[in-house]
This record gives sequence, structure tokens and C-alpha cells, in this order.
Amino acid sequence: MRLSVKNLSAFYGKKQILHDITFPDVDGGMVVGLLGPNASGKSTLMKCLSGEKKSKGNIIFDDDNLQEVGSKKWHEKVATMPQTPPAPTALTPTELMWSTARALALPYSDKELSRKIESIFNDLGLSDFQLDALHTLSGGKRQLIGLALAFIRDPELLLLDEPTSALDLRWRMIVLELVKNKVQQDGRVSIAALHDLDLAARYCDLLVLMKNGKVIASGPSEEVLIPENLARVYHVETEIDLSKPGYPRIDVVGAI
Ligand SMILES: Nc1ncnc2c1ncn2[C@@H]1O[C@H](COP(=O)(O)OP(=O)(O)OP(=O)(O)O)[C@@H](O)[C@H]1O
Ligand SMILES: [Mg+2]
Repeated sequence: MRLSVKNLSAFYGKKQILHDITFPDVDGGMVVGLLGPNASGKSTLMKCLSGEKKSKGNIIFDDDNLQEVGSKKWHEKVATMPQTPPAPTALTPTELMWSTARALALPYSDKELSRKIESIFNDLGLSDFQLDALHTLSGGKRQLIGLALAFIRDPELLLLDEPTSALDLRWRMIVLELVKNKVQQDGRVSIAALHDLDLAARYCDLLVLMKNGKVIASGPSEEVLIPENLARVYHVETEIDLSKPGYPRIDVVGAI
């Protein structure tokens, strides 16, 4: 599996939001971290990759070009967890999973679907909450249900828009670990928009750093997360501690 994104542009009305987005090809088994300050275009890029928003340029996954295959075929391969978690309705997580799976006509028997949902809830620590109404659950738990709804589709390309923003320290790690394992096991691809640079450095194989709808840097974390780039993009002064291999720590000294 390979994702190739080249020269992607997108507009809201006449306003150009994404400018010629290109980053290195992503091979199966990789997690990409999409970084950048608020309004830099991360969610817009996610929407373009999912086919929800029209774009110009090339989005090629395996041999399919999104611009050519049309959204139906694309949606069979791609699932998104949007930035906003599921609304706090009276539905239970179990009902939501079943209705979503059936509305998407996922090809599972009742027994298979039941087993899949149970396994996903178990992985995400949701088993004890599966029969509670969504409006009684905390924001973090609802975010995990958003993730469960993406997992149930078992996509080849998993797009996660700030999947850990509402989660506590432990669940942030568990979720990214889970995503990494899923992707590595089956040679799939995931792209996650993240604000937590330490987590991105630790779990992502490739980072794409954006500002004002442009890619400022892309590559491995040690090339992207350098004080010059972080000053330019986030307007912060940083010191980067590389003493523990594989676990770079970004110390934000202050705003500049
Ligand atoms: N529906 C819309 N109509 C018009 N402009 C939009 C719309 N959605 C987003 N934008 C604009 O596009 C730009 C990029 O927004 P986007 O949501 O992609 O940023 P982001 O990097 O995901 O930010 P955040 O970290 O806050 O989630 C912003 O200037 C935003 O105002
Ligand atoms: Mg966003």
C-alpha cells in the first residue's frame, strides 16, 4: 500500500486554503503526523484526503487516484475520525456502532459485527460504557467512540483528526499504540493531525508540518522538529532533548 499526495490545493469559496501540498510518499505500515498551529489547514487536508472536500492535484492510494475513481470506491478504502466527537445524544455506543455499520452496509454477519464491536470496545476501554447514553459520557469517552466508529470500518487509510485531544495521558498513549499496531500488522496507512509534538515524535514515522495551508517541513521527526521550524511555525522558543533515543522531548521555553 502506498499513499502519494502531490500538489494539492483546496479552496473555500474563492479563498485558497491549501497551497500545493506535497509530502513524501507514505508506505504501508506508516503513521503520518500532521502538525501545525490552529487554522493551518490540517482538517481541510484531512477532508480532501477523505474525499469529503474537492481539491486539485493528486491523491493516489495504491493505483487509485481519488480525482478519478469517484467517492464511492474511495470510501471503501478510507475512514475518518473527524475532529468533533459524536454528538451527546440518547443513543448508546452499541446502538451507534450497529447503526453506522449497517448504514454503511459493512459486509459482516450479525455475529461477526457483534464480535468486532466487542473487540474494539475492549481495546478502547469502552466495554463498561457501551449501554450508557452518549450524553452521559465524558468528552474523552465520546472521543474514543469517534475512534471506534472509524475502526469498525477497518480502512486501508485511516484518517484521524486530533484523535487524542480530549484524552488523558494514559489513553493518549494507548490509542496511538493501537493505531500503530493496526497499521503495522496489515501494512495500512494512518494520518493523524496532532497538537502534541512529543506524541507525534514518538509514534509517527513521518511528520508533515504545516502553516497557512503550506507544508513548511516534512520528514522524520529529528529533521522536522527543530527549533528553527518550531519558531517559524508556532512562534515558540524550544529546546529539544534527544538524550533518550526514540523519545525526543520538546521543551517549550516560551512564546516569541
Ligand atoms: N467551512 C469553512 N468555510 C470557510 N473557511 C473555512 C471552513 N473551514 C475551515 N476554514 C478555514 O480554513 C483554514 C484552515 O482551517 P482548518 O480547520 O483546516 O485548520 P486546522 O489546522 O485544522 O486548525 P485546528 O488546529 O484549529 O483544528 C482556516 O483559516 C479556517 O478559517
Ligand atoms: Mg482541525
